[in-house]
Amino acid sequence: MQPNKEIKNKFCTAPFVNLELKNPNVWSGISSLVCCYTPHKPLGDYDGTNLYDVWNSKNAQELRQGILDGSFSACDLDKCQIIHDLPTIKQVQDTSYYYKQVIQHNITVLMRGPEEIQDSYDLSCNLTCPSCRTEKIMDKDPEKIRQQKERLHRIIRTPGLKRFVITGSGDAFGSKAYREFLEELDGNKFNKIKLEIRTNGVLLTKKQWNKLARIHNNIEILVISVDAATEKTYNIVRRGGNWTLLLKNLRYLKTLDINTRLDIVVQQHNYKELPKIVKLAERYNFNNINFTLLTNWGTFTEKQLAHLQVWKPEHPEYNNFIKVLKKMKTIEYSGANSDVDDMIASI
Ligand SMILES: C[S@@+](CC[C@H](N)C(=O)[O-])C[C@H]1O[C@@H](n2cnc3c(N)ncnc32)[C@H](O)[C@@H]1O
Ligand code: SF4
Repeated sequence: MQPNKEIKNKFCTAPFVNLELKNPNVWSGISSLVCCYTPHKPLGDYDGTNLYDVWNSKNAQELRQGILDGSFSACDLDKCQIIHDLPTIKQVQDTSYYYKQVIQHNITVLMRGPEEIQDSYDLSCNLTCPSCRTEKIMDKDPEKIRQQKERLHRIIRTPGLKRFVITGSGDAFGSKAYREFLEELDGNKFNKIKLEIRTNGVLLTKKQWNKLARIHNNIEILVISVDAATEKTYNIVRRGGNWTLLLKNLRYLKTLDINTRLDIVVQQHNYKELPKIVKLAERYNFNNINFTLLTNWGTFTEKQLAHLQVWKPEHPEYNNFIKVLKKMKTIEYSGANSDVDDMIASI
């Protein structure tokens, strides 16, 4: 096998700190991962009580061993989005005594639990973005919602947890379970835990924000996906959304002192709006923009996907896409080191 220059002397901390929880009924038996690029290697079925069995499962150990021996043998490097930003082994060792021990003693079974958990269990959402789903998904069964909330309450009590991300699957406010969990949480009791809340923003009204008063201090970042700079495009890519209400919410959120990120999934529908999206981010005081490329989550046929992936050289609008990237190169914005930022930088 050819050695990959990108990983030479590099270290990835993700398998030592991250855990993502999914719904095995939806994700074909997958319930826990350390990063989204190892879908064929779930760690096990984490129910909120058996943390160390899952966290130190055979697959978790294999993933860590690959990092420790420098082969990254259990990683899917073609899909990894952070491969270009990995620190060196030396940097990791120099900044943390814990990692120094882990690296020097080749430790794959960890005494520490995950520092960050992302919950991607509930798919309930108020929208039906075509990139994400083909039909509305909304859990309404009170018993299921109760169980979900109970699960979240167990997870947030994970010893050593520092960050809890809600959510990578549905919507933090579109899902009744997530919304009520966040409203009921007493942030003071979890003052060491920071929250990352991810939403399409449509239901995050002033009233909703006020209902989160007890966790305001825990919220480290609010991530809002918009995917458009005009109502016309928004209505295509964020099916079921409400542009006017979203902008009203963004106007309100702008008045608060919170860290916000604007998430944009770049595709054929919205690439021409990238410069305008930067303006939108400025208008609403977003701290950062995270441009990423659309992938197929099983909602598109190969033909539809080919039409949306405008960055492929064989796409009829590819030259226009490159022109937009060149324009973006002249515009200042605070990006999140994404694959699109790399494209812009390399043009
Ligand atoms: C599934 S959503 C969940 C959080 C929230 N509902 C939202 O939209 O931000 C998480 C992120 O996935 C992005 N996303 C949706 N479909 C995608 C796709 N096919 N490829 C890449 N990202 C996608 C969304 O735009 C959003 O930024
Ligand atoms: S808002 Fe988020 S979870 Fe809801 S459909 Fe769109 S991408 Fe999926």
